[in-house]
Amino acid sequence: MKVVHTIEELRDQLRGQLNVSFVPTMGNLHSGHLALMKMARQHGDPVVASIFVNRLQFGPNEDFDRYPRTLANDIEKLERERNVYVLFAPDEREMYPEPQSYRIQTPPVLGDILEGEFRPGFFNGVSTVVMKLFSCVQPRVAVFGKKDYQQLMVVRAMCRQFQLPVNVLAHETVRDADGLALSSRNVYLTPQERAEAPQLYRQLQAVAQRVRDGHSDVAELEGLAAQELERRGWEMDYFSVRRQRDLLAPSREEVQAGEPLVVLAAAKLGATRLIDNLEIER
Ligand code: PAF
Repeated sequence: MKVVHTIEELRDQLRGQLNVSFVPTMGNLHSGHLALMKMARQHGDPVVASIFVNRLQFGPNEDFDRYPRTLANDIEKLERERNVYVLFAPDEREMYPEPQSYRIQTPPVLGDILEGEFRPGFFNGVSTVVMKLFSCVQPRVAVFGKKDYQQLMVVRAMCRQFQLPVNVLAHETVRDADGLALSSRNVYLTPQERAEAPQLYRQLQAVAQRVRDGHSDVAELEGLAAQELERRGWEMDYFSVRRQRDLLAPSREEVQAGEPLVVLAAAKLGATRLIDNLEIER
């Protein structure tokens, strides 16, 4: 695997390649990331991965400074798996040599609800860096995880609206044996919090099951799940059943008619904010 730190080196490595498959990450790689790279390998060649902790997508009180940066370890993991041909690991000066005043404006509604409401500017920062990374890598395929469900939809909308020739593929969320979705931020959890953390997924599963059983008052289900998590010490941002197609709330008629739904949640456990979601298959 070639590790490159500049856009020029990256372009040298990729000259003439028309079938590049790309996985953007912020590093501290876990098995979820490695699964994305494996999928990328099945859909293109060569595979490029990037590691860049993108300041633009962090709010002023978020964890940019303490976000785990583990490049040497990440390189070892990628070398072991042998799916990645080039790792692009730029520093901040390389990605943002001048203040990034051009930004990608995210679509109203999709960019403003759920994560967009609780992390203002987040999708704007994600879209801007993904656009820049796509411009550097020029992939034909890019792989994103469904754990960041709304991010996946925002990136797809961006590609559609800017006619970017990138096929955005989605990988299922990878979980630990107890159901906790893998996330680079799980390292922040204390042992007690780690033991509690799978509860978020359990509540998503419970709500999905009730909907599959025919319960159509989703507001009631959301309220009960949020209450239970709060009782256990979680601080809720949202727990919400939405339509898969646009992440808007479904009407009762739509729930009854079998509209494809997804239940999404974000909440803090101690100082750590976790997100997760589950598509409701019916
Ligand atoms: O999902 C992530 O790790 C980041 O949001 C991404 C897509 C790499 C952009 O910084």
